[in-house]
Amino acid sequence: MLKGKHIILGISGGIAAYKSAALLRLLVKAGAEVQVIITPNGKEFITPVTLSALSGKPVISEFFTANSGEWHSHVDLGLWADLMIIAPATASTIAKMANGVADNMLITTYLSAKEHVMIAPAMDLDMWAHPSTQRNIRTLEQDGVEVISPADGELASHLVGKGRMEEPENIVKCIKAFFERNNVSEASLAGKKVMITAGPTYEKIDPVRFIGNFSSGKMGFAIAEEFAQRGADVTLVTGPVSLDVKHPRIKRISIESALEMYETAVQTAPECDVAVFAAAVADYRPETCNQTKIKREKGEAPVIKLVKNPDIAAACGKLKKDGQIFVGFALETDNELANAREKLDKKNLDIMVLNSLRDAGAGFATDTNKVTIITENSEMQFPLKSKVCVAADIVNTVQGLLTH
Ligand code: PMT
Repeated sequence: MLKGKHIILGISGGIAAYKSAALLRLLVKAGAEVQVIITPNGKEFITPVTLSALSGKPVISEFFTANSGEWHSHVDLGLWADLMIIAPATASTIAKMANGVADNMLITTYLSAKEHVMIAPAMDLDMWAHPSTQRNIRTLEQDGVEVISPADGELASHLVGKGRMEEPENIVKCIKAFFERNNVSEASLAGKKVMITAGPTYEKIDPVRFIGNFSSGKMGFAIAEEFAQRGADVTLVTGPVSLDVKHPRIKRISIESALEMYETAVQTAPECDVAVFAAAVADYRPETCNQTKIKREKGEAPVIKLVKNPDIAAACGKLKKDGQIFVGFALETDNELANAREKLDKKNLDIMVLNSLRDAGAGFATDTNKVTIITENSEMQFPLKSKVCVAADIVNTVQGLLTH
């Protein structure tokens, strides 16, 4: 996958720079040609000698080589590379990237980069949580930079929290996933029909109140965009969310309640090659919906009797034919793997995407998710990633199972 790929590994000045040597080794071992660019502060944490020995190339840090006067062209580097990864990316480097402060070779190269750029931030928990860092991260994401979110754990300060640079093995997985995404041609799913459920359902209590949940629809919408980008015709059955569909090959059907989603899904899924059930469907609804607003002042607080909603994924799973691939999500809080496997079997699905509310940054409403993709014979654990990248991992898995 990485054979012959040109990768710029940027290293900025943080304790996690020691892990960059392991990352570099893994990339070179996987066949990549790696050019290291280190910031002046980075050299305080790891020596260029180690890095050039591992990469087999002189490490670049300054605009000129002091003794020969050789100029390092950031523009040429930007053209040479297939990918740029900055690991660790410190708060200062992130701030400079977000604001175009080109005061070192790494940032000038970033500003000239034509290739995809990824960063693996590393810093203390308070620095990571600081509004200015978060603002800069959002800016970089809007600029198209892929952020490999830091993990939770013990930090250099001995405090425990979010800020540890993701482990080199996981960074390599993200890099491979990027090249995998790019390898799949635009039209690799042309002619395939896909249905996706997304968002929450609202179960009305009266004209102004409902039972709902925190689903934003971001996960389901990202999956819809990924399928459409690969050429599939997508029907997106979505509960109430404030998201817009971007790709013209996505047909959006907006529903409100679980019963409405059920009716659309059981009609659509049997006609599709792939169905993905990413919606957070309310398991129960009020037995009756009051025709008028229940008044606060009238006597006792009301008791609302709930009845079960149909299980949409299970109902579609019963109708599944040979060759169709159906994907469910399992949103868990405990006993995650066992529960997810049980749902895979019970609902007659082919793939289960497990996300746990115990993982920070995973599940409802966030822009990121941390998933394990489960099939009958395999379990693939992925690090915390943007939902866009998680969507690509899911679609890759589906493509691996599609037989025609
Ligand atoms: O929308 P976001 O804010 O981006 O958040 C994404 C998400 C957390 C909603 C998503 O990643 C997710 O986990 N979706 C499934 C949530 C859920 O309802 O999980 P569950 O374990 O209760 O359900 C298992 C599966 O059965 C799911 O595929 C679900 O869509 C489906 N189901 C559940 C109940 C029901 N009545 N009908 C169903 O189809």
